[in-house]
Amino acid sequence: MNILLTGGLGYIGSHLALGLLKKQNVNLTIVDNLSNSKLSVKNKIRFISSKNFKFKKLDLKNKNSLQKLFKKGKFDLVFHLAGSKSVKESQIDPKKYYENNILGAINLLNSMIECNVKDIIFSSTATVYGSKKINCYSENFSREPVNTYGLTKKIIEDLLIDLDRKKKIKSVILRYFNPAGCHASGLLGENPEGTPNNLYPYIIKIIKGDLDFLKVFGNNYKTKDGTGARDYIHIQDLVDAHLNCIQFVKKKSGIFNIGTGKPYTVLDIINSFQKHCNFKINYNFYPRREGDIDIYYNKISKAKKILGWSAKRGLKEISQSTFKFAIKSK
Ligand code: WQD
Repeated sequence: MNILLTGGLGYIGSHLALGLLKKQNVNLTIVDNLSNSKLSVKNKIRFISSKNFKFKKLDLKNKNSLQKLFKKGKFDLVFHLAGSKSVKESQIDPKKYYENNILGAINLLNSMIECNVKDIIFSSTATVYGSKKINCYSENFSREPVNTYGLTKKIIEDLLIDLDRKKKIKSVILRYFNPAGCHASGLLGENPEGTPNNLYPYIIKIIKGDLDFLKVFGNNYKTKDGTGARDYIHIQDLVDAHLNCIQFVKKKSGIFNIGTGKPYTVLDIINSFQKHCNFKINYNFYPRREGDIDIYYNKISKAKKILGWSAKRGLKEISQSTFKFAIKSK
């Protein structure tokens, strides 16, 4: 099976690449524009998997390069993970998100149609739901994204839904909650340049000694300890959810939330590193971050019932794998 993985050198993409390379009869091609990933990850994937795969530095906004790739690749399935994903950046530079995420997706889908590639698994996000007065989200909830990042993901979802209706392309849309954790080898993890916006990459920098303490944004949320609560899903469980979609998408399209169904607060996360890694994270409380909500987590039944998938790992595995990666990447 010839598989194209876009964004395959990124945090989620690189872990998914390893999962795909473990499968029999997979010829993998990875494309990535290296805007939010490092070329060194390619060698790490080769080293960990001892498998070969094709890699091409390619930006999905470059229609001609994409068409050439599809003519040669003869793909059977596409995993589409390439895209800009910072909520904060999307509010500062919305045009970049429309170009990268929507134009990139349109070019990709046009190439798929031109070369009769029928199946795609798309990396979407729970951010499409927006911030309602509820905590537990299921797939049939309305999508009212409150930032440009979430809006671009919703627009791509709508495009896929239309293409499915016209029987052009079947798709599985996976709405991730909060991916976290690292590869068991300690060689792959989320390690962006500069000061991270997200919680776990920030903690990684604290463990590495690059940052001194954690700013906890808000301690008066309606949660058990006042700090924000999220549904953190171990990257390996997230990868398994994608692999479970390969057979499903051959038959039909679907939309699934991918989370654990168990929300944890920021203080739970801090305590988990103390308990499972004997590592004390110093922190101070700061005002709430604009746009943050008290708590959001996934109603897990649909993926379990239809894909036969549910998360197997929890905070302990997330903390220990994160700690191992941070120490190794010091
Ligand atoms: C988690 C919690 C913060 C940093 C984002 C994107 C979403 C998805 C997942 C792509 C919140 C608190 C954080 C810090 C803190 N990405 N926090 N100090 O905002 O839930 O979701 O990542 O799909 O689209 O929006 O994740 O990790 O930024 O925050 O206290 O330095 O940690 O307030 O409660 P978020 P996050």
